[in-house]
Amino acid sequence: MKIIQDTQRNCARMAAEEYRKLLGENPHCVLGLATGSTPEMLYEELVALCKAGKLSFKDVTTYNLDEYVGLDGSHPQSYRYFMDSHLFNLVDIDKTRTHVPCGIGVTDEMAAHYDDEIKQAGGVDLQLLGIGHDGHIGFNEPHDAFDLGTHCVDLAQETIEANKRFFDGNVDLVPKQAYTMGIRTIMQARKVLMVVNGAGKAEIVKKAFFGPVTPEVPASILQLHPDFILVGDEEALSLI
Ligand code: GLP
Repeated sequence: MKIIQDTQRNCARMAAEEYRKLLGENPHCVLGLATGSTPEMLYEELVALCKAGKLSFKDVTTYNLDEYVGLDGSHPQSYRYFMDSHLFNLVDIDKTRTHVPCGIGVTDEMAAHYDDEIKQAGGVDLQLLGIGHDGHIGFNEPHDAFDLGTHCVDLAQETIEANKRFFDGNVDLVPKQAYTMGIRTIMQARKVLMVVNGAGKAEIVKKAFFGPVTPEVPASILQLHPDFILVGDEEALSLI
């Protein structure tokens, strides 16, 4: 595990540099992408690099981590909408090669097919992650089995509470389930990059990366990933 600490903006710049390198070396690479507030600054940096002609998404394929059950891509809080508005609509990507799990009318078998698609595309070269306050990655909540592929999850109450800020602060409007890549899917990525910001993440960062590897803290599995980079600001890394 490699740990890099800097200001939030510099963290985003360093993370963007990872993408510039990868896309330069392998323009046809497969990216695993994430949503949440944390990657927003990184996406800003990627858009700026693309606009400056320093990086191109033209031949890239992407797979997002997760999507709320019941929201379609036109819902402003769906993760498809987030990705379109923060990245895909702002860079030169071929949108037919961008994938976000479907939140509507999906069965478990259809969800598992997402993993087959990723494999057929050659596997994820670089998986981006944030972390939830309870240690979730994607939407893999505490106690989810480590060996699952893409599947449907019941969101933990803590996650529903944390995400209500995007739904007018109204807990009733937050979907209670989501489709998420499983831990197995995430661990198969060749390289994993997690970005963490803010004092609110300090406790869980310490627990996840300096505590035992346990399904109680899903992100702790990343201690076993052969190429894992943790990039965080001083507040988020203050307890390690
Ligand atoms: C959601 C997403 C996660 C994300 C987490 C933390 O639950 N499914 O992928 O890491 O939120 O989000 P934030 O970066 O806003 O703290």
